[in-house]
Amino acid sequence: MGKYFGHATCVLRPRTTQQVSEIVKYCASRRIGIVPQGGNTGMVGGSISLRKEIVLSLGAMSNVRSFDPVSGILVADAGCILQSLSDHIAPHKHIMPLDLGAKGSCQIGGNVSTNAGGLRLLRYGSLHGNVLGIEAVLPDGTILDQLSVLRKDNTGYDMKQLFIGAEGTLGIVTGVSIMAPPAPQASNNLFLALPKFDNVLPLYQQVKGQLGEILSAFEYIDRTAYDMGVKHGLGPILNLDEVGDAECFVLVETSGGNNTHDEEKLNILLESLMSADESLINTGVLSQSPGQFENIWALREGLTECVQKEGKPYKYDVSVPLTDFQKVVDQVRERMISKGLYGDHGITKVMGYGHVGDGNLHLNVIAKNGYRPELEEALEPFIYEVVASHKGSISAEHGIGSMKTDALRYSKSDVSIQWMKKIKQVFDPLNIMNPGKVLP
Ligand code: FAD
Ligand code: MLT
Ligand code: ZN
Repeated sequence: MGKYFGHATCVLRPRTTQQVSEIVKYCASRRIGIVPQGGNTGMVGGSISLRKEIVLSLGAMSNVRSFDPVSGILVADAGCILQSLSDHIAPHKHIMPLDLGAKGSCQIGGNVSTNAGGLRLLRYGSLHGNVLGIEAVLPDGTILDQLSVLRKDNTGYDMKQLFIGAEGTLGIVTGVSIMAPPAPQASNNLFLALPKFDNVLPLYQQVKGQLGEILSAFEYIDRTAYDMGVKHGLGPILNLDEVGDAECFVLVETSGGNNTHDEEKLNILLESLMSADESLINTGVLSQSPGQFENIWALREGLTECVQKEGKPYKYDVSVPLTDFQKVVDQVRERMISKGLYGDHGITKVMGYGHVGDGNLHLNVIAKNGYRPELEEALEPFIYEVVASHKGSISAEHGIGSMKTDALRYSKSDVSIQWMKKIKQVFDPLNIMNPGKVLP
């Protein structure tokens, strides 16, 4: 994003957990701060050395330790790239329980540390459920071996849960044990143009009702985001005349066990949508080939990169009730207009896309000509206040990093923050593990 700049003068790339432990012991003895770094694809400045802490990059720890094709349990070094893990288990007809646009660079340790959500969460749930165990190096150099391959283990406090989403503040994740579901035998997708945002929820209800157990993703793209994607060479997926003045788009994916059965369900859904008296959609397309399936996903997954091409993005990743999704985007645009900050001299686009099925909106505000303090002041804390007024979360999936430490209070009570600080103190009394991140 060109928003965060690291100040590390030293990057270490250990190859083994033992080496990580030795580095951490050395740093603890000299109170040297450590920033764990995975693929560096995070969005909130979490993997950046703010005050010359050393960077501990996990990239050289990239071995798969084991995979059991019967249980689907995969044990891997934290530095394994998500796509490589998918490729590793694909011949055994399994998939990773998470998928995201950054899959070619992000690492499983980074995914666990950010509790990444992504495009499959609707179907396979969050990493809090899919991660079975972790191995971590604690801030004094001790190796915590909880690399369980058990589905069930009710033996007291579940320590691994603390590391899922800790963003490197409690220790360095060096190994992950994760449950990989069987690969679906059939995957299809539909791309739909909707005349108005108000149709999204009734559509979601209808899609859930008609597709039932085969529904695996329900993603949202507003018109501004769609047009931006097309402008940068993604799609167009739909015929422009048929799209008309559609306000937004929805990508529906199914993953099932029988292609004939799934296609039949999808065709019936599309037909019933098209032929309804007051149709919820303007038009839609059901992918007819693996290439078209990929193109539809490429549009959704490519939006993050298009946003960077448009200018400097202020990115907000919030959870709000589904009915309020577009209201939040509109409120932000109206504010920038009313403050005289909309236009080439300031904000040029405000758009929303995201994981509707999970209630997760990605609000992107683009400054074509660069970041400026007065733009940030107009956006923050305004956006956090809007989100809090909708009883939402200021970070649905990207985390807190260094970007939102002061905003944490909008989503966590004083008591919660106090206890988070106590937990941090127990693990990391010297405050060497990713200092300045997550906690205010
Ligand atoms: P990094 O960016 O390197 O680090 C992220 C944080 O985790 C930092 O605080 C770092 O210190 C810590 N960390 C990293 N590795 C370790 C470790 N081994 N031990 C301890 N701490 C560690 N996120 C979503 O949730 N859903 C999405 O759909 C999604 N899509 C994305 C699409 C694109 C194109 C991009 C660029 C990013 C996307 N993200 C998404 C953001 C996201 O958080 C991640 O990409 C990913 O989970 C971060 O992994 P990473 O290895 O790059 O971690
Ligand atoms: C996404 O869902 O595309 C990501 O979380 C990245 C983004 O917010 O741009
Ligand atoms: Zn996302």
